[in-house]
Amino acid sequence: MQNKIVLITGATGGIGKQTALALAKMGAQVVITGRSKLSGEAAVAEIKQQSGNPKIDLLIGDLSAQINVRSLAEQFKVKFDRLDVLINNAGLTSSKKELTADGIESNFAVNVVAPFLLTHLLMDSLKASSSARVINLMGGDVPAKLDMDNLQSEHSFDGLNTYSQTKLAMMAVMYEFSQREKGVTINVCYPGQASTNMTRSVTPDMFPRAMRFIFPLYKFMTRADGDKSAAKASRSSVYLASSAEVEGVSGKYFDVNSKMAAWPAAVLNTVTRERLWSTVEQLSRLK
Ligand SMILES: NC(=O)c1ccc[n+]([C@@H]2O[C@H](COP(=O)([O-])OP(=O)(O)OC[C@H]3O[C@@H](n4cnc5c(N)ncnc54)[C@H](OP(=O)(O)O)[C@@H]3O)[C@@H](O)[C@H]2O)c1
Repeated sequence: MQNKIVLITGATGGIGKQTALALAKMGAQVVITGRSKLSGEAAVAEIKQQSGNPKIDLLIGDLSAQINVRSLAEQFKVKFDRLDVLINNAGLTSSKKELTADGIESNFAVNVVAPFLLTHLLMDSLKASSSARVINLMGGDVPAKLDMDNLQSEHSFDGLNTYSQTKLAMMAVMYEFSQREKGVTINVCYPGQASTNMTRSVTPDMFPRAMRFIFPLYKFMTRADGDKSAAKASRSSVYLASSAEVEGVSGKYFDVNSKMAAWPAAVLNTVTRERLWSTVEQLSRLK
């Protein structure tokens, strides 16, 4: 990864920070983003110290607000003349329905609109690279169907199911992106479960009612483990960012073992994808 410039959203902690550390160890110039300057600066210092790589930068921005997504893209472009790898890592699972400053349901804003908008805004920088890669992280369970009439929980909000719906929407919109944009590769991977702030913030009421009895087991499985599981979960992103095996490979889904796997049926539905694309494009105010 020498001479490669990598931008990783949400890399001040969890899987993103471990991804940044692994790529820094490979010699990449790594730019991490987070919401807090304090945790951001601490993460930069830690990555520099553990990797021995001084080329680590920080950009601050809460991706739930589009003004910040636009500002992040601008700040990146001022500093760097190209982008080799964009990892849309930041994700959100919230316990209740909340609207962002743009009036968008927060899971949908962070998990779908933000990566879509950021990838668009950085497309020129990506195309300035000879072989740019965009990597997106999906969630856990994939729902059988994408509920197009409830994309922003207009009718119901359902904890982890809402999160999973937004991750399925992200997969569909990124697959569509890969079909429309041939200048860069765009793929989705599943990192596997890790003990992070995200999993540790899950509460029983976010589980489907019939599944709440397994919450103690879930808590046990996601107990703090000193970033061990987050490091393991970073492997999928690191593989897609760095492996020569996936050079030129686009529009694919990679499972927890970084093996190419079948897309969920909902992603392959062209009508759904086109409807979703125009909805997200409108919400991003790209037109
Ligand atoms: N952990 C799992 O078991 C698991 C399983 C499947 C998929 N995933 C996916 O993997 C990705 C990383 O997950 P994780 O568990 O590592 O998450 P995490 O620990 O919650 O994420 C930490 C990072 O995301 C940043 N972040 C959170 N909300 C943000 C926002 N609104 N705007 C900007 N940055 C934000 C945090 O920055 P601050 O410094 O501001 O906090 C921090 O850098 C997510 O897309 C998640 O959906 C995780």
